[in-house]
Amino acid sequence: TVQDLVVPVGVTLDRFIMHSQSAFPYATGELSQLLRDIALAGKIINREINRAGLIDVAGGNGTENVQGEDQQKLDIVANVRFIRALKNGGEVCAILSEEEEDIIHTGNDHGKYVVAMDPLDGSSNIDVNVSIGSIFSIYRRVTPINGPASMEDFLQGGRKQVAAGYILYGSSTMLVYSTGDGVNGFTFDQSLGEFILSHKNIGTPAEGKIYSVNEGHYHSYPPFVQQYVAQCKSRNFSARYIGSLVGDFHRNMLKGGIYLYPSTKKDPKGKLRLLYECYPLAFIAEKSGGKASDGFGSILDIVPQSFHQRSPLYIGSAELVDDVVKG
Ligand code: AHG
Ligand code: MN
Ligand code: MN
Ligand code: MN
Repeated sequence: TVQDLVVPVGVTLDRFIMHSQSAFPYATGELSQLLRDIALAGKIINREINRAGLIDVAGGNGTENVQGEDQQKLDIVANVRFIRALKNGGEVCAILSEEEEDIIHTGNDHGKYVVAMDPLDGSSNIDVNVSIGSIFSIYRRVTPINGPASMEDFLQGGRKQVAAGYILYGSSTMLVYSTGDGVNGFTFDQSLGEFILSHKNIGTPAEGKIYSVNEGHYHSYPPFVQQYVAQCKSRNFSARYIGSLVGDFHRNMLKGGIYLYPSTKKDPKGKLRLLYECYPLAFIAEKSGGKASDGFGSILDIVPQSFHQRSPLYIGSAELVDDVVKG
């Protein structure tokens, strides 16, 4: 497998992809190119985030997205950067974005892949300099090559993802992804302009003592979640919640812990979106030995009905997810 490859920490993303490529001779390089295109978008967005206070990308854009959220300027900037990078890269025929009501056709009808993405996650943190992220989910298209992509390309279900990952614009900028065989993390070296392998074959600890939930919504949680939160307190867990799913998820994956976004009065089906937040992070969680549930079963087994549908999300260390789900 890719993990057995003697790939020393310190190699660039490009060389890692090439090594992985050699482990899958049938792969013809398109997925590798797609991953490079995503990394390129991440580098460009990273540069804009690092200058947010200096260039005019902070604050609201004065527009609302299909979610009913006030779009931040950086939501739009990140959305445009990803669409442009994937369009120019040529491997993606269509994109589903949190910031677009319908799928975006890139004009690459010969492209074998589609991407569902949250171009900027944790938008409420942009102006206050707290970590934010981008999340992506990749499927091979099921509609005929050279024809237009359609809804069914995006509604294949979580287990049909061929790759998924995220970019975390944090104290360092990291790209974390899986093509199904282990999860690897790359840290961006500003001086080289390269993502360098820094976290090889990440494993989510089965246990943990960190819980991430917005306790401001406590009174509208389902009882089983209220009980679980009380249990975390009685077990002297640490509460860590930064309001950016990618940041909370990444910390819990490295240190062990659980992130919870239950159904609430405001969001009776949960707030997080299935196709470009829950599915991709559930893919990463499961490929690193963790778990992701909607309270009833694995997130990846939820049958998708619509582009922007929401789901409750309980994700992280396997034993903690089991604890909250079995109540
Ligand atoms: P986005 O910024 O992409 O809309 O996602 C925000 C999500 C997630 O990143 C975060 O954990 C959660 O919203 C925070 O929601 P609350 O403010 O309700 O806690
Ligand atoms: Mn949003
Ligand atoms: Mn998000
Ligand atoms: Mn977003």
